[in-house]
Amino acid sequence: MAIRKFKFEFDSMHYYRFSVYRLGSNVQTVYTFFLDDLLIDTAQFHNRENIYPIAKEHQIQKIILTHHHEDHSGNVAFLMKKLKIKAYAHPETVKILKKGYKVNNLSKLLSGPVDKAILLPILETDKIETKNYTLQPIYTPGHCDDHYCYYEANKGWLFSGDLFVAERIKYFSYFESMLTQIESLKKLLKLDFDVLFCSHNPKTKNGKEHLSNKLHFFEDFAGKVTQYYGQGKSVKEIFSLMRMKENVYYKVITSGEFTAENMVKSVVNDLNSQQSK
Ligand SMILES: [Fe+2]
Repeated sequence: MAIRKFKFEFDSMHYYRFSVYRLGSNVQTVYTFFLDDLLIDTAQFHNRENIYPIAKEHQIQKIILTHHHEDHSGNVAFLMKKLKIKAYAHPETVKILKKGYKVNNLSKLLSGPVDKAILLPILETDKIETKNYTLQPIYTPGHCDDHYCYYEANKGWLFSGDLFVAERIKYFSYFESMLTQIESLKKLLKLDFDVLFCSHNPKTKNGKEHLSNKLHFFEDFAGKVTQYYGQGKSVKEIFSLMRMKENVYYKVITSGEFTAENMVKSVVNDLNSQQSK
């Protein structure tokens, strides 16, 4: 297993790409961000030997997480222990990592397991200060319930975790909510920023435009599903009316947890839960 890393610098802030390769192919890439002595996210367990010396070199004193998923939290307990430092996250992330959770087999292959960790909660009203930066947590559910983005207002930077990823996407995990993500994207677009430090696809300019394009894609998609569902069509019928295609490999290897159909299902589930309220 070859694991490679790459270093980037933007306006004297450092960030690193941590990839996992299987059979010569890059199967998983995540970025972590080093702001003075603060680290945002901790990469996958499989990159433990790579992130540790970098965290030491940057004299990291504090960690914050965007959410609990294994490619972001895979080394939080390890780094806290080795560097004797504290880590902070959304109260729900704190609960999840305290209890611990089982990473599914595919994610274990791509990222590795997640150790239990005792984190401290931060709220939206809190500010995270370093020598040169001030970050504000912005609660942005939809990808998962415990998701924070972190906003650096003076710089016009948004650390957006997994809320962006790409302007147009073709697949959804079973736990994602499209309508909730739409609300979170609208909340973020009220902020003033140009740099979008996405954990999988950072954009160092026109970040707001990229995020706005994602919002429009979701609004258009959700609008069409809502219309068909209102006409009494089923999830399967909507999937075919929208000429969507499944990636059978993804569907099989994730036991149906990561599929194109999940995008339609997500909107239908959101509409049903809105109706039952
Ligand atoms: Fe995630």
